[in-house]
Amino acid sequence: MSPSSLPATKFKNPRAKYNFQGRTCSISGVGSYVPRKVLTNADLERMVDTSDEWITTRTGIKERRLAAQDEFTSDLAAGAARKAMKMAGVTAEQIDLIIVATITPDMLFPSTACLLQRLIGARRAAAFDIEAACSGFIYALEIAQQFIMSRTYDNVLVVGADKLSSIVNWRDRNTCVLFGDGAGAALLQNRPHSHGLLTAVMGADGNKSDLLFMPGGGSRCPATAQSVASGLHFLCMEGKETFKNAVQAMLTAAQEAMRRCEIDIDRIKCIIPHQANLRIIQAVGERLGAKPDQLFVNVHKYGNTSAASVAIALDEAVASGRIQRGDLILLIVFGAGLTWGAAVIEW
Ligand SMILES: CC(C)(COP(=O)(O)OP(=O)(O)OC[C@H]1O[C@@H](n2cnc3c(N)ncnc32)[C@H](O)[C@@H]1OP(=O)(O)O)[C@@H](O)C(=O)NCCC(=O)NCCS
Repeated sequence: MSPSSLPATKFKNPRAKYNFQGRTCSISGVGSYVPRKVLTNADLERMVDTSDEWITTRTGIKERRLAAQDEFTSDLAAGAARKAMKMAGVTAEQIDLIIVATITPDMLFPSTACLLQRLIGARRAAAFDIEAACSGFIYALEIAQQFIMSRTYDNVLVVGADKLSSIVNWRDRNTCVLFGDGAGAALLQNRPHSHGLLTAVMGADGNKSDLLFMPGGGSRCPATAQSVASGLHFLCMEGKETFKNAVQAMLTAAQEAMRRCEIDIDRIKCIIPHQANLRIIQAVGERLGAKPDQLFVNVHKYGNTSAASVAIALDEAVASGRIQRGDLILLIVFGAGLTWGAAVIEW
């Protein structure tokens, strides 16, 4: 089909004003991987003072996946990446760049992206990690998009992967019920005659960095026997404040993304919000004026998998047929930092 015979679009492509001369950034393959081991709410009842009823009503989570001891973030990432590459029909040799979004890298260095490069054999690819906590997948998509639109690279692999079980305090009922492990991947390419990623909003507020953080392990508090004994290598969270900020930031980001594309919520086929808590998802959906069937939800199966969350959900939405070619999708994320973001994608 020649560009002139394409149907007129009913939305604005905000990228058009940059004169990319027909270049687009399309997601041509998606994939996800979750570890086999399931940890149910009933299992957690045996570990801390909690109940299935409390977890379900406050969060919507019923179970989450846990990586094996010898299964690392790079392994989860590789599982998701191989599926995305297969769907896109792209070999490891063809990948130009790998970006991994994670807060639980295998090691502080080298990057998990380099370890992933080795695992999948993408020997030509440049590789680096980005850290934007649960917002990492949209941050990484937007970075990848810059390389594709600028003609620097043609095939970019973006992965959100986290093994949160490695930084969760399994004795703290306030946090341990919320999180899980997993990975999601997307293969981004220039695809003529397709719109792809239309816009991505990114935001941050470092003044609220103390709402969700891990004190130990960095240059501020390197590992010592005392830091370990004091529990400084576990994730800490101020739940209620995080909740409020999440709803407001996700709402604002989503509205800004749609404003840029000059569309309203009815035009979105599938909304994929960060899967942290069903009540956050519902609150954001309601404030956006979305119908319940526009929202994609899988938080009951996996809990909060941080950077992997929307990536896994995107893969499941595609696999289940919820998203068809030409549909508009809205991704919305929020995480530690604080960070947030939203992206509109034409599938
Ligand atoms: C954590 C969260 C589920 C707590 O829900 P909440 O309605 O705010 O609950 P509260 O903080 O008011 O806690 C209520 C009580 O339940 C208790 N509680 C906490 N976790 C519990 C658990 N797993 N089981 C049973 N009781 C629990 C608290 O100790 C508190 O008891 P108290 O009143 O005696 O002090 C909610 O605040 C949340 O989801 N926040 C956002 C978290 C998030 O998404 N983080 C990641 C962002 S990327």
